Order: sequence, then C-alpha cells, then structure tokens
Amino acid sequence: MKYDYSNNLMLDNITSTQIENMTYVEFISFIRETNRCPGGKNTIRKILQNTFINSASKVLELGSNTGFTSLEIARVAKCHVVGIDVVESAVIESCRELSNDVPDIQKLVKFEVGSALNIPYPDNTFDLVVVGGATSFIENKQQALEEYYRVLRPWGFLSVTNLYYHEVPPETVVQNVSAIIGIKIESWNAEQWLELFNTNTLFETYLFEKHRLNPQSSERISEYVEYFLKKDHLCSLPTDVKNTIRRRWRQTIDVFNENHKYLGFMLTIFRKRALPEEPELF
Ligand SMILES: C[S@@+](CC[C@H](N)C(=O)[O-])C[C@H]1O[C@@H](n2cnc3c(N)ncnc32)[C@H](O)[C@@H]1O
Repeated sequence: MKYDYSNNLMLDNITSTQIENMTYVEFISFIRETNRCPGGKNTIRKILQNTFINSASKVLELGSNTGFTSLEIARVAKCHVVGIDVVESAVIESCRELSNDVPDIQKLVKFEVGSALNIPYPDNTFDLVVVGGATSFIENKQQALEEYYRVLRPWGFLSVTNLYYHEVPPETVVQNVSAIIGIKIESWNAEQWLELFNTNTLFETYLFEKHRLNPQSSERISEYVEYFLKKDHLCSLPTDVKNTIRRRWRQTIDVFNENHKYLGFMLTIFRKRALPEEPELF
C-alpha cells in the first residue's frame, strides 16, 4: 500500500489494520518521526568538523530515512547532499521535509530511492559518505562496504555512526528489537564493528569514539508518544486508529528502551587512502 504523504490523501481513510501492517520504516515515516542518528546534531557537527567539509564538498548519506541528517549537513556546511534510502515512503517523507525548508537548502539537497548495495553513482564521486544505522539493516555488509568505498573520492571520508552493545544483551532483547525493525540484528560490540571495516583494509581509521546511551523513564516515554498523537496530520484521525498508533509506538519505544540498557554508539570516521602509509611506531 502506498501513502500520499505530500497531501495526506490516504490519511482520512487509513485503518488500524493498515497501520499494523506497515513495516517499521513505513510506520516512522507515517508518524513523521525526526529519525536522528545517535547523538543527533552533536554527532553531525563532529562529523563535519572532523572531515573538513566545506561548501564545495559533495556528500552522500546512505539510509537517509526521513531526511534529518542530510538536511542538517546542508544547513551547516552549505554543501550539496544526496540522501538515499531503500524505503520509498521514507524518501517521500524526506522530500516533504525538504519542500518545507528555505529555497537555499532546497537547491542543495536531493533525496532518492536507492540501495547502499548498488549505489546509483559513479566511482570516486563523493568527499564524504555518511552512514547512520543503515549498515545494521544490511545483511551483506561486505558488499555495502565495497560500495561505500567505490563512490568515495581518494582521500575522502566515510563516517559510520553505529549502535553497539557494551554488555552482552539477553537473547530476548535482541529478538524483540529484530522483530520490531524486521531485520535480524547482530549483537556486536564496538570492536567487532571496527573489525568489519579494518579487516577489509580498504579504509584507514581516522577517528573512533564510543559513547554510552541511557534508558528513559516511563513518564518521559509517555509524554513523547503523546506528542506524536498531537501532530496536525494525526490528531484528527478516528480514535481507534489513534489508539493503534499509540499502542504500536509505545511498544516500539519500550523495546528500544530496554535495549538501551546494553547499548552505546560509536562515532567512527574512516578515510579512503590513495597511497599506503609507513607503519607508525610510537
Ligand atoms: C536506523 S535508520 C537510519 C536513521 C538515521 N539516518 C541515522 O543516521 O541513524 C536505517 C535506514 O536505513 C535504511 N536502509 C536499510 N537498508 C538499506 C539499503 N540497502 N540501502 C539504503 N538504505 C537502507 C532503512 O530504510 C532506514 O531508513
């Protein structure tokens, strides 16, 4: 089922069953969640500062979801940004966000449906490739890495902001998160994620930071869920439909919140080396 997010065509007739049948990414696009990378704007600022991006740079975001990171990069660095996501409804929602932005940003940003496994751009195109949680959603990680590498210019940067487990989580927690997002997630720690990029030897690790994440209180989660139900495009829906949205969103956040007890996020920047480097001893 397709939803016309731009003019809310389908919203008046939407049913609880249709909401229950949405995938996770379709659902968060439908409720218009500002799906941020871990660490939000602070992470984006660090990525831009540590990759020396300027207004002449070309940036690609993979797994752009509802567009937050791509838009923020263009707002801060005034550079051209392409956001790609494999889910059409997420791209439609990011285009709607873009259409609300000022003309200068509209000229800089483009959102497209596409896959990180087959990036629709030639070799050596981008100065920076930004990947938030998308690598966790991709089973064939090796193919994704080769694509990240292929489209980067020599000496270009790849930023990877990934969730990792600082403590081995109970199997039920991992199963519940996998069921919510519809993908079997790996319960990797930060070093296992880093190894994925290092054993590949295509990339040089340029920056590696680990940060802890904190679960939120039940009251804070309730307020957050109710905030969505008050959004203009949702508040006038029939009560049974709003109850379904409320139930699904609360259940999703509760599962994520339990997961947060074991989670941190890593901010990693890799560089595509054009030449090998002599070993460094001290
Ligand atoms: C956790 S969200 C990313 C949210 C946010 N952009 C971030 O930085 O964390 C992961 C996104 O990756 C997308 N995705 C999954 N597989 C993909 C693929 N093969 N190519 C492009 N995007 C993909 C999903 O549709 C989803 O929107």
